[in-house]
Amino acid sequence: MRIVLGISGGIAAYKAAELARLLIRNGHEVQAVMTRAAEEFVRPLTFASLTGRKVITDIFSSASPDATLSSAVEHIGVAQEHDLLLVAPATANTLAKFAHGMADDFLSTMYLAFRGPVVLAPAMNNNMWEHPATRANLEILKQRGHLVVDPDDGFLACGTYGPGRLAENEKIVAAVERAGLRPAQDFAGETVLITAGPTQEPLDPVRYLTNRSSGKMGYAIAAAALERGARVILVSGPVNIVAPAGASVIRIRTAREMRDAVFANLEPATVIVKCAAVADFRPASEAAQKIKKTGASVSLELEPTADILAELGQKRGSRVLVGFAAETENLAHYARLKLETKKCDMVVANLVSGEEPVFDSDSNEVLLALRTGELAPLARASKREIAGQILDHILKLKR
Ligand code: CTP
Repeated sequence: MRIVLGISGGIAAYKAAELARLLIRNGHEVQAVMTRAAEEFVRPLTFASLTGRKVITDIFSSASPDATLSSAVEHIGVAQEHDLLLVAPATANTLAKFAHGMADDFLSTMYLAFRGPVVLAPAMNNNMWEHPATRANLEILKQRGHLVVDPDDGFLACGTYGPGRLAENEKIVAAVERAGLRPAQDFAGETVLITAGPTQEPLDPVRYLTNRSSGKMGYAIAAAALERGARVILVSGPVNIVAPAGASVIRIRTAREMRDAVFANLEPATVIVKCAAVADFRPASEAAQKIKKTGASVSLELEPTADILAELGQKRGSRVLVGFAAETENLAHYARLKLETKKCDMVVANLVSGEEPVFDSDSNEVLLALRTGELAPLARASKREIAGQILDHILKLKR
């Protein structure tokens, strides 16, 4: 990877020299950027010698021309040409500037122009680390999808003992490698409410009405959204698959329970994906005891369940609403119709009578009907791959 190593001013700045060496040994290219305060602790020449590159120290000019690249737009170029930004040590001041978008030196200006993964390794006095202002800034930065390598406990330069010592370099390098492998955290700050699987509508203690659904598509969307930094609330009917780690799972059985769980969790949601195969009908009454066979035929009276998606269409506010449609014919027509009538931003339509199986399958082929009027066919791919493409379209709709 091409890594920008930002060094801000703290006593731990000297440790960044060894860090630069380790990153280079792991096969990365390192461009060091130092804040003015960092220069008070370590000379730019140290990093220039280790990385074999001039060290960037200021946005407009520099007191040490031999160790500095200076150009008014350098920060944009550096942001575009690098894959990852690591700041170690990150001082309380640097964290505050990043959290609030202040751009008053090269590092903080470049940060705003940077689109790749960001890893922050803070180091500071333990009281500064524990101060509510620093906690709040860290929360903002984590919400933004940045990876924070917490400092270790130890004796600090100020003579106290506590959390604040820059994490071991090996830990920071491991975080960098992990962040490099992570997909873009473009769902950071989003809360995605997903419904998945079937519902079961009991007829008596041993029988129920249900829909065919494995839950795989909804769970794949949950996993993909989590990987991209979202908070995920998964309202799931009975399925035989394991929920992705990190999702808040609410298990329900009936359409009524699903409706209640959805509306109880609507408030924090910014995106709703209604993947569940909700039963459209339920037995009008549930027998308390098992209905015994008598040899005679039996008629069931069914009543409609609440249409959760249609109700969400009314109550969604500015949330992105994605519905699903399982159709046996006229896919595009019905998808567009559902988009309109249920007031969705996107309908993911499945042809369930095609040659390829949909139910319980690990792959899928769908047609997206978008509120922009566009129809986007997604070629057959794994449900995980399709999930990623659905999320890409959700982001486009949010812009
Ligand atoms: N849905 C819902 N509540 C219901 C039934 C369906 O929220 N009681 C949602 C599903 O989660 C899905 C979408 O509605 O996102 C489409 O479901 P589908 O059964 O294909 O369509 P219906 O609305 O039932 O319409 P139709 O009977 O015309 O196919």
